[in-house]
Amino acid sequence: MNNHTNLLDEVFEKFVSTARIFRDREVLRHDYLPEKLPHREAQIKTLGETVAPVLKGARCSNVFIYGKTGTGKTAVTKYVLQHLEVKAKELGAPVKFCYVNCRLAGTEYRVFSVLCRNIGISVPFTGLSVGEVFNRFKNGLDVSKKLLIIVLDEIDALIKARGDTLLYELTRINETLRNSKVSLIGISNDLRLKEFLDPRVLSSLSEEEIVFRPYDASELKNILSERAKLAFQEGALSDGALSLCSALAAAEHGDARRALDLLRVAGEVAERKGASVVVEEDIREAEKHIEHNRVTEALQNLTLHSKLVVLSVFHLNKAKVHKAVTGEIYEVYSELCGELGVTPLTQRRVSTLFK
Ligand SMILES: Nc1ncnc2c1ncn2[C@@H]1O[C@H](COP(=O)(O)OP(=O)(O)OP(=O)(O)O)[C@@H](O)[C@H]1O
Ligand SMILES: [Mg+2]
Repeated sequence: MNNHTNLLDEVFEKFVSTARIFRDREVLRHDYLPEKLPHREAQIKTLGETVAPVLKGARCSNVFIYGKTGTGKTAVTKYVLQHLEVKAKELGAPVKFCYVNCRLAGTEYRVFSVLCRNIGISVPFTGLSVGEVFNRFKNGLDVSKKLLIIVLDEIDALIKARGDTLLYELTRINETLRNSKVSLIGISNDLRLKEFLDPRVLSSLSEEEIVFRPYDASELKNILSERAKLAFQEGALSDGALSLCSALAAAEHGDARRALDLLRVAGEVAERKGASVVVEEDIREAEKHIEHNRVTEALQNLTLHSKLVVLSVFHLNKAKVHKAVTGEIYEVYSELCGELGVTPLTQRRVSTLFK
């Protein structure tokens, strides 16, 4: 026990006395909301103009926001609504907003429970029907006499899994409210979501549309350097590392989250080496770490048969069969199934796993 304490003392001492990289690594976390969002002025302005009518007691238009992952949709929306809330308080306007991440909530029941809690109504974890929770929300909201803006973030996850009844109910809620009004902001990183939606729901949700296009390398560099000023000690991040990090994230698809991850992990790599400056090599190493984790995670989430298909392709590649065709993959797959004592799926089923 004592020995271990000494060992840890050493580790901690070393860390405290040599840590020269980070000033505040929290700044690099995904949920940190920066005070400045460079290159999103147009979106901030449009969203601001769209929600502003609530300050004068009018319902604002519904908004549908879409763009690829890591393009600042969540950050911009939270930023605008937080400022709106401050302004509304100043003016004494009865404005409220409620943010729900639909992917994390997972079910319509939970989305409605979050909405209920937001207006001070508690609902049990289970036991009620979705319709009942929705009614409680509607009635509670009407009593509160508020203009409520509901943000449904990552809405695609919920709709693909459960359909669009939730949205349908919410887009029609104003018809039955007498003292309150609801506006919706739906956020999706899947453009194809439109194809999943009932045309009535779609037209009602997208009274206004805002597109977030991917950042390019120089935009990412600006974004990162703003964050880096707060996150790193002065001089602890080389310009080469910053440029490489931006270029790598831009080449992927202009994902600021990925760029921030690279930067954080690279900082940790440098820190562990006892270095005082993050250099390009650390970014490369960080990329390997992240890639490794992503692949491992993706593989872990596959079903057994999909894993066997991946393994079959791997074997064929190793045997230098160029561009293996489905038939060959299926042969190896069946062999692997045989070895494991698993009944193989039909070739047709297996070929659907490729998609
Ligand atoms: N213009 C910007 N300035 C500063 N930071 C930004 C900017 N755009 C994005 N970020 C940061 O990048 C990260 C990802 O942004 P955000 O979460 O808003 O992406 P998103 O578009 O909502 O992605 P997803 O579709 O995956 O939810 C966040 O940490 C955010 O603070
Ligand atoms: Mg988001």
